[in-house]
Amino acid sequence: MSDSLRKRILVTGGAGYIGSHACKALAQNGYTPVAYDSLVNGHREAVRWGPLEVGDIADRTRLDAVIAHYRPEAVIHFAAYAYVGESVQEPAKYYRNNVAGTLALLEALLHHGIGRIVFSSTCATYGIPERTPIDEDHPQQPINPYGASKAMIERMLQDFDTAYGLRSVSLRYFNAAGADPDGDIGEDHDPETHLIPLALQAALGQREALQIFGTDYPTADGSCIRDYIHVADLAQAHVMALSYLADGGATTAINLGSGHGHSVLEVIETARKVTGRDIPIQLRARRPGDPPILTAAADKAHRLLDWQPRYTDLAETLRHAWHWHRQHAAVGWAKRGVPTKT
Ligand SMILES: NC(=O)c1ccc[n+]([C@@H]2O[C@H](COP(=O)([O-])OP(=O)(O)OC[C@H]3O[C@@H](n4cnc5c(N)ncnc54)[C@H](O)[C@@H]3O)[C@@H](O)[C@H]2O)c1
Repeated sequence: MSDSLRKRILVTGGAGYIGSHACKALAQNGYTPVAYDSLVNGHREAVRWGPLEVGDIADRTRLDAVIAHYRPEAVIHFAAYAYVGESVQEPAKYYRNNVAGTLALLEALLHHGIGRIVFSSTCATYGIPERTPIDEDHPQQPINPYGASKAMIERMLQDFDTAYGLRSVSLRYFNAAGADPDGDIGEDHDPETHLIPLALQAALGQREALQIFGTDYPTADGSCIRDYIHVADLAQAHVMALSYLADGGATTAINLGSGHGHSVLEVIETARKVTGRDIPIQLRARRPGDPPILTAAADKAHRLLDWQPRYTDLAETLRHAWHWHRQHAAVGWAKRGVPTKT
């Protein structure tokens, strides 16, 4: 398809981990993804399936110019800060970037007559679960500013639909995991806080040992259970959410998880098998605010979006991540620098 016939989608945070995988999925499904990213945490090298426009979502002048130039038909909004611990230490940073930044973005969409947005929300909006698996009607009682910032944005999106007719899908991800199955892109956060990349870095000898927080939870092996969802499946769900909105679907919130949990110790054991390497661990006390089990009720995504995860085998997800980490450790991406305009 010629580029001028492809529908353009503005992808904020398109240079980040999940955003870059979504850009690839969009391109494979006939769209042109326009990545809009400040590069505060993203990687220029991860943007390979459409243009990169460097800019902050809070910069209305820059945003207006990019939207006027590309005239996207919809937006997928990944841009945010996403470290739970940091959000407790520096809440202002999170409310400014995530909430105020999103408000600026939404006002720009209204100004340009863009009526559809898919938003990266999180299971952190639920807080400590009253029941598992967690369905979308579970109360949202976030216990940290990161989760609160995402819940506020969901609320803002509901109000913007009521008042201005802006339709949205808030996708509440559980734990994103893995890397592009073709090995093109993968996870590179700095600092890294996610279990799988930390385990693989330990396997590569890039860190001494992996810390396990709590082995006395009421679970089979005493460690926490989480729902890992392959990043390529997450990416595909965004394409399907766009179709849902284009077909007239109403504003809604949908969990994205596999519906199955794996314990921390099970993930590490699988990582040892996949890598064939030693992964030293250090046992630590529980961290406050870590619920024993977080798993998604995942049937709404199937019902509304016709989405089902394709990569449900934890070992396969880890193989994709391992392939990426090994190759990336050798080649690497340039260290993030001061954002420059392209
Ligand atoms: N990784 C997960 O497991 C997970 C789980 C639930 C929700 N989420 C959400 O998914 C989204 C993507 O997560 P990720 O892991 O890919 O994070 P990431 O940090 O890799 O990607 C976020 C991107 O947004 C960009 N960005 C941040 N603030 C910006 C701003 N003001 N203007 C423009 N660009 C900005 C960063 O440079 C980065 O490229 C986030 O909104 C996060 O809250 C992630």
